[in-house]
Amino acid sequence: MEPTSGRGSRPRLTVLGTGYLGATHAVCMAELGFEVLGLDVDEHKIALLQSGEVPFFEPGLPELLRKNLETGRLRFTTSFEEVGAFGDVHFLCVGTPQKQGEFAADMTYVDACFRALVPQLRDGALVVGKSTVPAGTAERLAAELARTCPAADVELAWNPEFLREGFAVEDTLTPDRLVFGVSSEAAEAKLRSAFAPVLELPTPLVVTDFATAQLVKVAANAFLATKISFINAMAEVCEATGGDVTLLSKALSYDSRIGGRFLHAGLGFGGGCLPKDIRAFMARAGELGVDQALSFLREVDAINLRRRARMVDLARELVGGSFGGMRVGVLGAAFKPNSDDIRDSPALDVAAAIQRQGAAVTLYDPAAMDNARARCPELGYRESAIEAARGADIVLHLTEWSEFRQMDPATLSDVVASRRIVDGRNALDPAQWRAAGWTYRALGRP
Ligand code: UDX
Repeated sequence: MEPTSGRGSRPRLTVLGTGYLGATHAVCMAELGFEVLGLDVDEHKIALLQSGEVPFFEPGLPELLRKNLETGRLRFTTSFEEVGAFGDVHFLCVGTPQKQGEFAADMTYVDACFRALVPQLRDGALVVGKSTVPAGTAERLAAELARTCPAADVELAWNPEFLREGFAVEDTLTPDRLVFGVSSEAAEAKLRSAFAPVLELPTPLVVTDFATAQLVKVAANAFLATKISFINAMAEVCEATGGDVTLLSKALSYDSRIGGRFLHAGLGFGGGCLPKDIRAFMARAGELGVDQALSFLREVDAINLRRRARMVDLARELVGGSFGGMRVGVLGAAFKPNSDDIRDSPALDVAAAIQRQGAAVTLYDPAAMDNARARCPELGYRESAIEAARGADIVLHLTEWSEFRQMDPATLSDVVASRRIVDGRNALDPAQWRAAGWTYRALGRP
């Protein structure tokens, strides 16, 4: 590939799609010294990014965005023509949400973005898929590229992304591994140059075929979801036996073969990735005739959703068997702390279900209020934890923001109607709350 950036041998990069993944990737690659052009079809998003505003909550990202806009290395556009003329390596980072009413992934955005890009590519360009896609997508896109691209020596590669929201900057600048799915040495060499600063760290690199590269991502998410549902299944058993799942998890974690990460029992997993990725994985396995291999993921999904139902039941039990006329204070709406993401959020799901059963729910979240209000306008929104808890017959702790974890029970004691709290995330200290006169209950422990 002919480097065009005039910065040694560094390729010029473009990033298509500026959601959590794409915006972070664009900013971090500029931070690593590359010239980067980010694209989105959403003009509003592009205007925000170009003016130094990140359209979502991600710690550390706004500062890095502004810093790299100032250097001139990072720019944003809505023009595929500009992207094609600019870039040597193009990262596809658009979303693959769950299809309405189906388990399968919606490939509309990937396909539309790819088809808009291909006619604009220059000779020697590399298109790199980063989106989480059903197995077979890379093979399909590579064939389409070979068939339809007017430019010479253009290739496709697959480079799955493992970043976690809330740690997106760290995970992109210092990933725990890189996976390159390639079908030629030339493509591998181009990817190596696009990740040179990361590979120098050093970072483990696994070079694979397309099929494996696509599977690594869904397999990783399936494993993480399974681990969470495993401990939540143990929580169900603890509830039946009087055991304490937090101590069980702690005892398991000292076995280094098991490890303690993603073994935290509570309200279960949500977000824009784990739930839809395991469902899309099952759907694709069905199409491939290996649905039995993944039938356990149905149970993983079911265990996860049962935790939400159990939370609602437990809260209703504690207020005397009915939510009618009850006030419920909810702490947290985001699917996890340090995020404003409410996609498939267990917290918001529980809050909405309780309101449907007749309670007046008042909710506070440090970052996800606007998103929650847009999704569930029927809930009451308050500007602080204290205001959400004011007059409550029961308080539910549903997203473990540090602000909630560090809260002194005394600050809520005088504002609530009854001192009852259910800790949906097993993140508060039961002894502290009980000592302050509260009835403390949690999932999976007495
Ligand atoms: C996940 C993967 O971790 C990441 O590698 C992938 O790229 C995208 O999907 P993310 O969706 O940001 O990242 O969230 P993650 O930190 O994995 O948490 C997912 C959910 O699981 C959250 O709702 C969290 O509260 C829950 N969780 C996590 C638990 O309930 N228990 C745990 O022990 C860990």
